[in-house]
Amino acid sequence: MPVISFANPKGGAGKTTSALLLASELAAKGASVVLVDADPEKWISQWGALPGKPDNITIVGEVTEDSIVDVIDQAASQVQFVIVDLEGTASLMVANAIGLSDLVIIPTQGASMDAKGAVKTLRLIRNQARMAKREIPHAVLLTRTSAAVASRSLKNIRDQLDGAGVEVFATSIVERAAYRDLLDFGGLLADLDPSKVSNIDKAVQNAREFMAEVVTRLKAGSRVGEAA
Ligand SMILES: Nc1ncnc2c1ncn2[C@@H]1O[C@H](COP(=O)(O)OP(=O)(O)OP(=O)(O)O)[C@@H](O)[C@H]1O
Ligand SMILES: [Mg+2]
Repeated sequence: MPVISFANPKGGAGKTTSALLLASELAAKGASVVLVDADPEKWISQWGALPGKPDNITIVGEVTEDSIVDVIDQAASQVQFVIVDLEGTASLMVANAIGLSDLVIIPTQGASMDAKGAVKTLRLIRNQARMAKREIPHAVLLTRTSAAVASRSLKNIRDQLDGAGVEVFATSIVERAAYRDLLDFGGLLADLDPSKVSNIDKAVQNAREFMAEVVTRLKAGSRVGEAA
């Protein structure tokens, strides 16, 4: 079943947040998901230790550059979606995960487009694809964009990426308190307390659109399971 990796050597680009949103929305639809926490900082594992993690999300936290290939292969044979949250460096572990991926998502902060991080990841994907002698579908995901303004700079970034032939998700991940709170409080988006967190419904809507686009891209890349 499909393997989806989140990669960008730039720290704070939104890899962990977007990986968790995707896992949450797939799980909310009833899909079985393994979340591979391939970041030594262990944010996903910490989220999983909080109350509210659904049973259909399994977290695998003990991975090394040696074991990641086995971990991903085994998970892919067992569940409908394998989601890999990678560390914010370019390492052998990152390269190995990319080599096994059906879709690599490159979260990139919309406001301060980190071209360097994204370009590094694109180069790594291209090299891994050559080594594996296959295409590795991938796309940039603009993150932490403003809910209030569809900014001109964001459109510029999209146009630049388009012009360079880089795939970009139509959905961007908006900056939302609910997404920060998810990592702090655990559980799924829909479980957050609406009296404490604003705009949960909009946060759910955005995450759901992102999930749907991931599924569409996987189908286009052709190795999606029966789920979702
Ligand atoms: N869409 C968003 N809305 C609100 N906060 C966000 C959003 N995306 C990320 N953040 C916050 O920004 C910080 C960095 O995000 P995140 O941990 O997802 O990035 P990362 O790419 O995984 O970073 P690292 O390279 O350190 O692993 C976190 O505190 C997270 O809560
Ligand atoms: Mg992270």
